Amino acid sequence: MNNRQRIGNDIYWKSVNDRRKNLFENMWPLPYGVSYNSYLIRDEKCALMDTVESGTDGFYMDWIKEVLDGRQLDYLVVHHMELDHSSEIGELIRQFPDVKIIGNAKTFKVLSAYFGCSDNFVEVKDGDTLDLGHHKLKFVFTPWVHWPETMVSYDMTDGVLFSGDAFGMFGALDGGRYDDQVDFAMYEEEMRRYYSNIVGKYSSMVQKALARLSTIEVRTICPLHGLVWRSDPSRVIGLYDRWSRYDAEAGAVVIYASMYGNTARMADYIATGLADNGVKSIRVHDVSKTHISYLINDIWRYRGVVLGSCAYNLHMFPLMENLTRELLHMGVKNRLLGVFGTFSWNGGGVKNLKTFAEEIGWEQVAPAVEIHGRTAPEKLLACDAMAEAMAGRLLGKEISEEK
Ligand code: FEO
Repeated sequence: MNNRQRIGNDIYWKSVNDRRKNLFENMWPLPYGVSYNSYLIRDEKCALMDTVESGTDGFYMDWIKEVLDGRQLDYLVVHHMELDHSSEIGELIRQFPDVKIIGNAKTFKVLSAYFGCSDNFVEVKDGDTLDLGHHKLKFVFTPWVHWPETMVSYDMTDGVLFSGDAFGMFGALDGGRYDDQVDFAMYEEEMRRYYSNIVGKYSSMVQKALARLSTIEVRTICPLHGLVWRSDPSRVIGLYDRWSRYDAEAGAVVIYASMYGNTARMADYIATGLADNGVKSIRVHDVSKTHISYLINDIWRYRGVVLGSCAYNLHMFPLMENLTRELLHMGVKNRLLGVFGTFSWNGGGVKNLKTFAEEIGWEQVAPAVEIHGRTAPEKLLACDAMAEAMAGRLLGKEISEEK
């Protein structure tokens, strides 16, 4: 048995790196892959904590049998029914027909729908416990982090939290498997991109879950994706707390939609103005080139958001419209906003960005800027006030009266 993936004496960890998949949920790019984690507690009773995505590891069932070493698999605990963690359940039931499946009422509705089974279900309620011998698990329901059936298990003996998708990340594990083995800066972007796009919509539920978990001592976090946090679990708990409160850095992301370069010129002019006014963290994205998941990641990261669009069919550019619709759907809060754009005939880009501004309720730092036709240097001066106001709000400076 490979002891390197053992947590304590008797919790075994199967981490499967998937670098083949291009799109998570067939939507989110995976330039660095993704990993799936499954855990097996080998105690007086043996319990498997979730499975992995079917077809990603041909040795998964062999690993379970190797860890069991002739023992019976007593329980499968299903924290989350999304198929990246549950699609091996059908095969598991075939190979271990007596295994008892632990979940909640919502878990079993989905599980039956996928695997056509209803035997050996053990329904738990929020706060129920399960005695495995040394380990005593407590089940805590965390609905909508990020689907309705999600729950976590807390090992009251050793302080291990089996957290489901919570505290997970995009990105395969490139060697280091524990938080103390890696330069976390290499993983933080992908963790935030995972949080913001997969979990972020449910941030209020994350806050509720964190409040519940704050009463227990968590020594190790075992999520379903990515690193196991054995040295500093408070770090990732702190990140989740920050992100779910919409707390952000004093920087800005400028995102533009431009067909022939005029709106792009405004974006670069505003970004330069932000820098000239002291903002050091600035990202500029072309909405036609950068996948929306990276745009949302940066909107989660930075407090300042500057959106620009040319007009298109009397509306904003379709990819910008898609971004604004998604931001409204997610209910992102507490951002500072500037909007700008261009038009040739009747407009529509800036007009609809203004409507978005009203709907999302973010503070607009300056009046919208709209330029007709070519964004010549003398016309760009109209963007100065927006850059100065945004920088002032981000950096906490007073805006100078004389400018
Ligand atoms: Fe990793 Fe919601 O599945």
